[in-house]
Amino acid sequence: MLVLGGGIIGLASAWRLAQAGASVTMLDPSPASGASNVAAGMIAPVTEAHYGEEALLGLNLQSATAWPGFARELEEAAGLPVGYDSSGTLAIAFDPSDKAALDELHRFQDKLGLESEPIPAVRCRQMEPTLAPSIRGGLNVPFDHQVDPRLVTQALLAACRARGVVVNSAAVTEILLSKGGFAGVRTDAGERVVAGQGVLATGWQAGRVQGLPASAVPPVRPVKGQILRLRLPASLPRPSRTIRAVVRGQSVYLVPRPGGDIVCGATAEELGTDTTVTAGAVYSLLRDAQAVLPILSEAELAETAAGLRPGSPDNAPMIGPSIVDGLAIATGHYRHGILLAPVTAAMIAELLSEGSSSSGSEWARWAAFDPRRFSGEVTQA
Ligand code: GLY
Repeated sequence: MLVLGGGIIGLASAWRLAQAGASVTMLDPSPASGASNVAAGMIAPVTEAHYGEEALLGLNLQSATAWPGFARELEEAAGLPVGYDSSGTLAIAFDPSDKAALDELHRFQDKLGLESEPIPAVRCRQMEPTLAPSIRGGLNVPFDHQVDPRLVTQALLAACRARGVVVNSAAVTEILLSKGGFAGVRTDAGERVVAGQGVLATGWQAGRVQGLPASAVPPVRPVKGQILRLRLPASLPRPSRTIRAVVRGQSVYLVPRPGGDIVCGATAEELGTDTTVTAGAVYSLLRDAQAVLPILSEAELAETAAGLRPGSPDNAPMIGPSIVDGLAIATGHYRHGILLAPVTAAMIAELLSEGSSSSGSEWARWAAFDPRRFSGEVTQA
């Protein structure tokens, strides 16, 4: 069994497949890097609920519910921490029109039965005294948590190795087919790695994979996200939970890490594979972050980075069989790669270790995420 891609999705899938008894080789020239290394790590199905994405919300909630157990099991298997933090999230409105947007989000969350409590500005500041006095109110969202993706991917690598997963640092140049089915890969080292089953989990690069018929290639594209890491001196107060804010119509999030950094993100830019960190993005993220947390003007700008999220045409991931026998796809997670890792890995392990004949009702439930919806073979749920 080959897992192509060693980001959080490939690593989690490789781990689960190995646990299920498969003999797994994971191929990636630089595992635990890419978008997983840049991500803030919000486990945020409630504050990231969007109109028209109700099926995705169901999957997001399922995976968020799985996260605490996944984190515990992974920490035990790897002997490493993953930084799961259940302190919750406060969503903040900066000005009156931002408050109107937040009220609208709350109505939508309420209609969907999601836990989100409107709270006045004074209570927001009691909960988080570093918030600016001028904020207009917020939503308390206790179910939206966070994890540290850099710790998670390191732990997954260790857990994979402990389970016997072979980590091959060659780059895949081509998928090999035999009689129309998956037969392995060719690598940049000129090697043929032969296997009857594979998982394509190379994030946005899955959209450029060679060797597959055009209708089997997942239509993923890179969506650039620029993000900052801010470091406050230990003597200064900091927020105790994730702060998301709408500031003059722009979204910004601030995710405090136990080690002291605050991750501030993120842009969403359609610029192909460009990963330049721009002055404009750093400026607007800092401006909006400081508008809600003025103390950040004292922070060291410890890191700037840009990652490429794998975006899909309908913003939903592609998880499941492809039109090529033996090849599963796990990509297109867009803004939810960290959140969706546990459920994606479980789905891939179920698909490939028990065979797609075990699909039945469970796979029918997941039809909205079937990669074949873009190959013209499956009617979208
Ligand atoms: N889920 C946060 C982001 O993609 O920026």
